[in-house]
Amino acid sequence: MKIDQYSRVASLLHWFIGIALLAQISFGYLLDDLAPRGTPSRGTVINLHKSVGIVLGLLILLRLLWRLRHAPPAWPSSMSAVQRRAAQLGHVALYVCMVVMPLSGYVASNFSKHGVKFFGLALRPWGADLPAVYKVFNGLHEITALLFTALVVGHVLMALKHALLDRDGVFKRMSPWSSQ
Ligand code: HEM
Ligand code: HEM
Repeated sequence: MKIDQYSRVASLLHWFIGIALLAQISFGYLLDDLAPRGTPSRGTVINLHKSVGIVLGLLILLRLLWRLRHAPPAWPSSMSAVQRRAAQLGHVALYVCMVVMPLSGYVASNFSKHGVKFFGLALRPWGADLPAVYKVFNGLHEITALLFTALVVGHVLMALKHALLDRDGVFKRMSPWSSQ
């Protein structure tokens, strides 16, 4: 069955950012084990998470801008209206989480005296040292991380269902090798 593909740019952005995000989510959850609070390496490790997160945020912005200017391929006829709607909602929710994750972390850090050391370069915080504001944005970072993780698990399970059970070509739509 011949079905429409995502372009090569879309699939390369998907896989590069997707894999980096899986690593960054794991890094976030492992922060306290890698460098417990109060240990000398805490600052270095947290700032590495912050720096990588900012770079990812910029790449996500690029991906989002690119996506807004390029329509995705039409759904294959094998997918029902309900399946299409569910996939669409899931993808929008993934994009929302991809934006909220780096943004909430970045804003939180600017309301803390620690700010961000971007790969060693100290960026002066543009906000005041306000623990209550920090707490709100840090809380958003943590809640979104949970939602994001759940969505990614669902997304991967659905992708595998398409690849292994349905075998309807949906998985291959995102392959950089079969894209034009
Ligand atoms: C796509 C980008 C990002 C992802 C996927 C991500 C993911 C995570 C995750 C999963 C956690 C653990 C949450 C928890 O313990 O419940 C975390 C913690 C944290 N993140 Fe991020 N993060 C990102 C970007 C950023 C950025 C840009 C900053 C700051 C500039 C940042 C600052 C922090 C801090 C300070 C913590 C520790 C919070 C605490 O333990 O109180 N993150 N991140
Ligand atoms: C953090 C990791 C990931 C994120 C944030 C993510 C996000 C997304 C988003 C937003 C789309 C919709 C693309 C668009 O229409 O612009 C998409 C499509 C897709 N993703 Fe992922 N993805 C991730 C990881 C994965 C993984 C690990 C797999 C494979 C196991 C996968 C397989 C696919 C496939 C096959 C499609 C195309 C679905 C279709 O044809 O509509 N993704 N992904």
